[in-house]
Amino acid sequence: MKNLLILFCSLLMSGVFGDTENVSVKEGDSVTLQINPEETKGATELVWRLNNTVIAKIDLEGKDKPPPVYTDEKRFRDRLNLERQTGSLTITNITAEHSGEYQMEIRSSGEIKHKTFRVSVSVSVKEGDSVTLQTGVTDGKDVKWKFNGANLTDSRFTNSEVNEQTGDLNISNIGLDQSGEYQVNINGRLHRIFRISISGEENMSVMEGDPVTLHTNATRIQAEDVIQWTFKDSLIAYSNKTTTTGRFDMNLAGSLIILKIRSDDSGLYDVNITGSKHIHKRFNVIVTGEYPEYLYI
Ligand SMILES: *[C@@H]1O[C@H](CO)[C@@H](O)[C@H](O)[C@H]1NC(C)=O
Ligand SMILES: *[C@@H]1O[C@H](CO)[C@@H](O)[C@H](O)[C@H]1NC(C)=O
Ligand SMILES: *[C@@H]1O[C@H](CO)[C@@H](O)[C@H](O)[C@H]1NC(C)=O
Ligand SMILES: *[C@@H]1O[C@H](CO)[C@@H](O)[C@H](O)[C@H]1NC(C)=O
Ligand SMILES: *[C@@H]1O[C@H](CO)[C@@H](O)[C@H](O)[C@H]1NC(C)=O
Ligand SMILES: *[C@@H]1O[C@H](CO)[C@@H](O)[C@H](O)[C@H]1NC(C)=O
Ligand SMILES: *[C@@H]1O[C@H](CO)[C@@H](O)[C@H](O)[C@H]1NC(C)=O
Ligand SMILES: *[C@@H]1O[C@H](CO)[C@@H](O)[C@H](O)[C@H]1NC(C)=O
Ligand SMILES: *[C@@H]1O[C@H](CO)[C@@H](O)[C@H](O)[C@H]1NC(C)=O
Repeated sequence: MKNLLILFCSLLMSGVFGDTENVSVKEGDSVTLQINPEETKGATELVWRLNNTVIAKIDLEGKDKPPPVYTDEKRFRDRLNLERQTGSLTITNITAEHSGEYQMEIRSSGEIKHKTFRVSVSVSVKEGDSVTLQTGVTDGKDVKWKFNGANLTDSRFTNSEVNEQTGDLNISNIGLDQSGEYQVNINGRLHRIFRISISGEENMSVMEGDPVTLHTNATRIQAEDVIQWTFKDSLIAYSNKTTTTGRFDMNLAGSLIILKIRSDDSGLYDVNITGSKHIHKRFNVIVTGEYPEYLYI
């Protein structure tokens, strides 16, 4: 619990000015790109841009307190709200066409400060589902997809294909290790960002006294990934360090190893992996005893 608290606090404080903050939003939800009011104290003008185009700005010097000015781009119509006090920008009813890198500029006499928000649309799927990420364009010629910053060339992506006309990315029978950030570039420019989170479920029947491994099947765990295992809702293993000594262990893939399983280890195990990916997997483990045999007539 203490670890969880520390993690939570450090997440809250990570929005240091100048950094890039990652924000993932469900389609249809609203998001506020939050600015610390301390940062905008004394500012004369605030400007928000997406794809190098100004989408909202406000003049803070005008005597008559002029209201914010918004882009007349159709995709943003009635969706933006720039808060005068802090400079925070709210975007309502998010769709994939609102994803991308938002740059905020704080102008004051003699100084210009910047902050970037990387806004992705979150897509939740189940292990084994088929999913299509749409580009929204009709000419897919110059479309290029990236997964966690790399080209989609590795062996993990043999189950995916890019539609030649639209450039849409279709992944069939999606695996847990395909959770992460998908970025589509057109003509070398960032076009849309998606974040796929994946949930899975597995039923296991094991023999009392046996060693058991609950596989996350998440290859390529990154340094920034946090792994949490809970059993019957209490934390039993965190990152690669187990809170319980001796009986539980975690390997480099984040899989949980139970050295000698007991009958009271039956129940629900949940693993959450967050960071470069977002994975939730639940194992329903049933431990069957070797004795007494009369139970198995
Ligand atoms: C935000 O996402 C980018 C791209 O996936 C990644 O390189 C960066 O480390 C992330 N930043 C944070 C603070 O998580
Ligand atoms: C949200 O946006 C979608 C797509 O643009 C639109 O069809 C829907 O009506 C909007 N919903 C609300 C509540 O504005
Ligand atoms: C990704 O693809 C681009 C364009 O085809 C290429 O220039 C680049 O070297 C590739 N990067 C990697 C890491 O394979
Ligand atoms: C994606 O691939 C699956 C499996 O091959 C197929 O059933 C589905 O129709 C494809 N979807 C699109 C939009 O191409
Ligand atoms: C970004 O700007 C370029 C140049 O103005 C434009 O061609 C492109 O369509 C824009 N991309 C998005 C996602 O709006
Ligand atoms: C696990 O067992 C439950 C209850 O019997 C069943 O509803 C579920 O479909 C099973 N899940 C899998 C992945 O086999
Ligand atoms: C997960 O990995 C284990 C061990 O590599 C393998 O036996 C199992 O089939 C994998 N499960 C899935 C759903 O891919
Ligand atoms: C646990 O993680 C730390 C840092 O992330 C790493 O240096 C260490 O090798 C890991 N230990 C094991 C047993 O995987
Ligand atoms: C794990 O993820 C699930 C689904 O996203 C969530 O409901 C649950 O609260 C998470 N558990 C922990 C311990 O973070």
